[in-house]
Amino acid sequence: MAKGIGPGDAVICPGFTFHGTAEVVALVGATPIFADVQEESFNIDPHSVERAIATARQLGLKVKAVIPVDLFGQPADYDAVDKVARAENLFVLGDAAQSFGARLRNRAVGTLAHATTTSFFPAKPLGVYGDGGAVFTDDDELAEVVAAFAIMAKAVRNTIACASD
Ligand SMILES: Cc1ncc(COP(=O)(O)O)c(C=O)c1O
Repeated sequence: MAKGIGPGDAVICPGFTFHGTAEVVALVGATPIFADVQEESFNIDPHSVERAIATARQLGLKVKAVIPVDLFGQPADYDAVDKVARAENLFVLGDAAQSFGARLRNRAVGTLAHATTTSFFPAKPLGVYGDGGAVFTDDDELAEVVAAFAIMAKAVRNTIACASD
């Protein structure tokens, strides 16, 4: 939402992940296009990202972003994905729901992509009582927009809670 991605846009996701990764793409009306994962890590295969971009274009979609997912505590190969993303001018959103606290070549998860999400669901590396999440970015403008959406979401939740009282 903060990047204005919507109908007619495509976001590249790994074909093996928790469904929430692709769900957020559909939520904004965009189309998730799935790339293959690497046999050794189960994380997104950067070569397959290139093929997924070609598939999206054949379908008449504008490719806007890629979501590398860090499964089982292991960061995806962000350096390789970044090369493709730079060449194609794509936004990189890390999904670090399973990797909070991990490092890739001595860089902490949360600093590997333009923005990174994580989950505080109790089963996650940093769980809370109940549910929650966070977005990390060093892009101040983007952080402001994300914070505004979070405030709006909270207001909507409160309104729904009041209506059901
Ligand atoms: C890789 C991955 N992404 C996203 C999520 C979604 O996290 P949440 O339930 O906090 O929205 C999960 C949760 O299992 C996950 O494993």
